[in-house]
Amino acid sequence: MDRNVLTEMCLEQLKLSGVHEGEKVIVLSQGDERLDYADAFLAAGQRLGARMYHMRLPAPLPTTGAWAVGETGLAANPDAVNALKQADMVVDLIFLLFSEEQMAIQAAGTRILTAVEPAPLLARLMPTRQLRERVEIGAEYLKKAKSMRITSKHGTDVVYKLGVYPTMSEYGYTDEPGRWDHWPAAFVFSGGADDGVDGQIVLAPGDVLLPFNIYVREPVIYTIEKGFIQDIRGGLEAELIKSYMATFNDPRGFGMSHVGWGLDHRANWHGLTDFGGGMGMELRSFYGNVMFSTGPNNELGGPNDTACHLDIPMRNCGLFLDDEPMVLDGNIAVKEMQHTFK
Ligand SMILES: [Fe+2]
Repeated sequence: MDRNVLTEMCLEQLKLSGVHEGEKVIVLSQGDERLDYADAFLAAGQRLGARMYHMRLPAPLPTTGAWAVGETGLAANPDAVNALKQADMVVDLIFLLFSEEQMAIQAAGTRILTAVEPAPLLARLMPTRQLRERVEIGAEYLKKAKSMRITSKHGTDVVYKLGVYPTMSEYGYTDEPGRWDHWPAAFVFSGGADDGVDGQIVLAPGDVLLPFNIYVREPVIYTIEKGFIQDIRGGLEAELIKSYMATFNDPRGFGMSHVGWGLDHRANWHGLTDFGGGMGMELRSFYGNVMFSTGPNNELGGPNDTACHLDIPMRNCGLFLDDEPMVLDGNIAVKEMQHTFK
């Protein structure tokens, strides 16, 4: 992408994120990844009068190649973590999500924006204040609910007991101290009580498996009892899921993670056909998806910090909070959250 266009986009992002004169903003990268993003953020922040610098970590050593969340090059670098804690804002070009280091930086009051998706997607799903409002309306509903039920005509019928974990929102920028967000994003989520998820989830053709970045072609049936997956059945995709999960050799990978719904009408369900889907933020955000996840809940303050994590956005589901529909057959059911509202 043209350097100037990228800088203008980063300028818009930092304005939305409330960056102003005198603020200290650190851009964090590793190896030779996204150095063009780093340059664009530095130039944009400078135009807003912020005190900018770039912290560049070495490229990670080769690993098994599995997507293990929560492991970063910051773990062996307490001095670097301390410097990041001193900043007002960190632009994370690495993907720190779920790491202890990220939590420590946020706890110090530093807000964090992650930007790792391909630049054309950052452009197409540029965050807006309107979208934030829509996401925050969803979060208000979710905060008040005691239970969430998800249904589908394929046989999904599962209930999450809510009220233990906080409600989180992602809308693609962050202007509050200590808050994290990811550009682009538009969804709300919470998590069920540790032993409070029961029922069956049936993935249907077209549902999305992240981080595999593939669409399901044959139904996958999850049986869930007391917050843990007891059984996964189906065809090829079920076998892939089971084989992948087994490599972590961690029973906590079968726990139930975050759950919620997507709200960006500009995000495409067919997003995997563009850039292979990148990190999958477009799929997490598409309007009317219902996304459940398996594995860790430490992001929500829970005890499960397994590295085995799958995010699974589903189409054409119903999602009910205390029996009130939020999503019906893959469409947003609440007027103030609909993209045609206003
Ligand atoms: Fe996730």
